[in-house]
Amino acid sequence: MATRTVDLRSDTVTKPTDAMRAAMASAEVDDDLLGTDPTASRLESEIARIMGKEAALFVPSGTMANLISVLVHCETRCGEVILGDESHMHIYEIGGMSTLGGVHPRTVKNNPDGTMDVDLIEAAIRDPEKELLYPTTRLICLENTQANCGGRCISVEYTDRVGALAKKHGLKLHIDGTRIFNAAVALNVPVHRLVQAADSVLVCLSKGLGAPVGSIIVGSKSFIVKAKRMRRALGGAMNQIGVVCAAGLVALQENVPKLQDDHRRAKALADGLNQIQGLKIDASTVETNLIFFDTVDASTINVVKLCKILEEHGILVMAVSSSRIRLVLHHQISDSDIQYTLSCVQRGVLQLQAEEAYNK
Ligand SMILES: Cc1ncc(COP(=O)(O)O)c(C=O)c1O
Repeated sequence: MATRTVDLRSDTVTKPTDAMRAAMASAEVDDDLLGTDPTASRLESEIARIMGKEAALFVPSGTMANLISVLVHCETRCGEVILGDESHMHIYEIGGMSTLGGVHPRTVKNNPDGTMDVDLIEAAIRDPEKELLYPTTRLICLENTQANCGGRCISVEYTDRVGALAKKHGLKLHIDGTRIFNAAVALNVPVHRLVQAADSVLVCLSKGLGAPVGSIIVGSKSFIVKAKRMRRALGGAMNQIGVVCAAGLVALQENVPKLQDDHRRAKALADGLNQIQGLKIDASTVETNLIFFDTVDASTINVVKLCKILEEHGILVMAVSSSRIRLVLHHQISDSDIQYTLSCVQRGVLQLQAEEAYNK
């Protein structure tokens, strides 16, 4: 039995800190359905201010925040959204926009750095003259950081270019900013500047920021009025949400300043993995808190077996394919956890290589 746990499966696995638990226990609350929960209102105004947008809305999850944003921007049926083929919205949200909203997703290839070629985005915009043939493009979505591309940061310049393109064609821009604070810290730009070109942004409280639950959508006042209605329609309007919003306020204060350390530790872990023979990772692409590494030869180092060995040492990770493992840093991972993880991965790899040589 391992005496220590290093949970690198996701940044969603963090436990509420003592300060969060204390804030939750003493939160001033009322019924948010009636719009009178003071802690929810405080969190929403604070995030709207930080993000440089007029208004904000608490929602239970990032998936719901993305769905609400799409449904509000697309409004009528026959609409289409342009988004990355590696985006969370496209891959992991059960096709909610089409299942529930009658909105068609049109994908554009994500480059390894998380961007999509702006020319390809423009080429994907439907000709409004041909609306008897095509769906109507209404929205472009970016993801920052881009998780499946390795937590890559999307720059201000790129975001502004896509924003200008959206404007030119009368479209809206939504950013899945689940880890937007990670991006802002890594790029060293104010978060409001990073999302200036966006009409709406999802900010997740329960990923890099380490709160136990919840996401926030920000946008214009009129957008948030419609989003609030859509939240109710989707069953996401709740009563005394101040209890969880209180933890969100603490997360903003406690954990934004810690993101830089998460990124430094991710880099150290990536550099260390790079030194282990049999593994490969381009450490220069590790910009924030996500790491993907590959085995050079999947037949020698079986990923499932490696994950099992690590688990026996209390290290929890996620296999994403037969040759690839994902590790996610968060504020409850220390420098010594990184050293411990590296030594266990090294031992696991040597063990599997020895077993393979013995069985040959
Ligand atoms: C980039 C990105 N967008 C959206 C989501 C969805 O968030 P939730 O799990 O809160 O629905 C996630 C979840 O991990 C994510 O990584």
